[in-house]
Amino acid sequence: MNDLAGKHIVLGLTGGIACYKAAQLCRGLVKEGATVQVVMTEGAEQFITAVTMQALSNRPVYTSQWDAREPNGMPHINLSREADAILIAPCSADFMARLVQGRSDELLSLLCLARPRDTVPLLIAPAMNREMWAHPATQRNMAQLAADGATLLGVGSGWQACGETGDGRMLEPDQLLHDTIAFFQPKLLAGKRVLITAGPTFEALDPIRGITNHSSGKMGFAIARAAQEAGAEVALVAGPVALATPRGVRRIDVQSARQMLQATEAQAQSAHVFIATAAVADWRPAEQAGQKIKKDGSGDAPTIRFVENPDILATIARGARATSGALFCVGFAAESHDLLAHAKAKLARKGIPLLVGNIGPAAFGQDDNQLLLLDAHGARELPRASKLELARQLVADIARRIGAQRQQHASA
Ligand code: CTP
Repeated sequence: MNDLAGKHIVLGLTGGIACYKAAQLCRGLVKEGATVQVVMTEGAEQFITAVTMQALSNRPVYTSQWDAREPNGMPHINLSREADAILIAPCSADFMARLVQGRSDELLSLLCLARPRDTVPLLIAPAMNREMWAHPATQRNMAQLAADGATLLGVGSGWQACGETGDGRMLEPDQLLHDTIAFFQPKLLAGKRVLITAGPTFEALDPIRGITNHSSGKMGFAIARAAQEAGAEVALVAGPVALATPRGVRRIDVQSARQMLQATEAQAQSAHVFIATAAVADWRPAEQAGQKIKKDGSGDAPTIRFVENPDILATIARGARATSGALFCVGFAAESHDLLAHAKAKLARKGIPLLVGNIGPAAFGQDDNQLLLLDAHGARELPRASKLELARQLVADIARRIGAQRQQHASA
């Protein structure tokens, strides 16, 4: 919860009912460690008070270019020079038009115009009625703002305050918070397609019961988020878990190992990186009863025969080796003991260049973990940290490796 530590964000509010969401966004930014300087237009002040935003940001709000608090009388210069980013949320249709025209007759548009464009990015969260959003003038302005170097964060869809339903709502505060955090992450996997398996599998015994395991899917979901933040296009094949899909990630839900294999094989065709974090059940019941298996009164337990499930990682890695070998495969090893020895054996057995080891019982369901990265040359430890932090470190490591791999191919 400190993903924005050290960042100073100018949060600009313009006139729109979505200003009520900006209060929550401000709180979220502060909770993540950012310092937030709120600047409001006259229109924004019609929807929410400066006092509310001051209390949430713990700083006086600026509303006028004639603010006498700045000794040099230049709040537009001072505020824009201090910022690591300017985030306009909500950004009204009118304010977008003003930005496009380079207008500067009030503080917020003035400081956007005055900002050093190379070092202070401008992030825009539009908010308006669906007809205003769909209007060619707005769409033209959006395209022009993107061409001028602004980052457009998109809009939500659904019920609008005016009673209509459609596109144009401001994104929810947690979505904007995620996008702001993601914006600051280095784009180490830009242009790459990453495929991840996560969670347990569920192997049905009858319509009521089945065998599964304690995997929560948290590590795989954290890697999906980290890869998406690093600029990759991410497909996440998930077993039965109760986790929210990371923003911007394409999720394919499956139950059994065989379903997971099928979904993974289909996605692997176009992937550059495959990371197998799923705790796939090694065996499944040989027969799946069509109806609930009932007690027969004899006191004898039924005999259940198991058959081995396909090894998804080994299958995909074999396929990658048989073709061009362009797919970089990463395995996970959940062990209860002798991590290094087991991980070494698994690296060889699965035929993959990188294996990530962790102690299963210490990782399952937890928000933090510690990892051991093992390749043909040796092992490197990633000390205990949150799963998201470890996921970011792993993504950086993989990005380095596929960069190095590309160079090797190029020089061969
Ligand atoms: N894996 C897989 N398909 C399976 C079993 C495992 O894709 N049927 C993948 C896991 O996602 C993980 C790696 O293989 O990336 C190792 O999984 P793990 O359960 O630790 O090992 P197993 O191969 O099952 O070996 P063992 O049961 O001997 O520990």
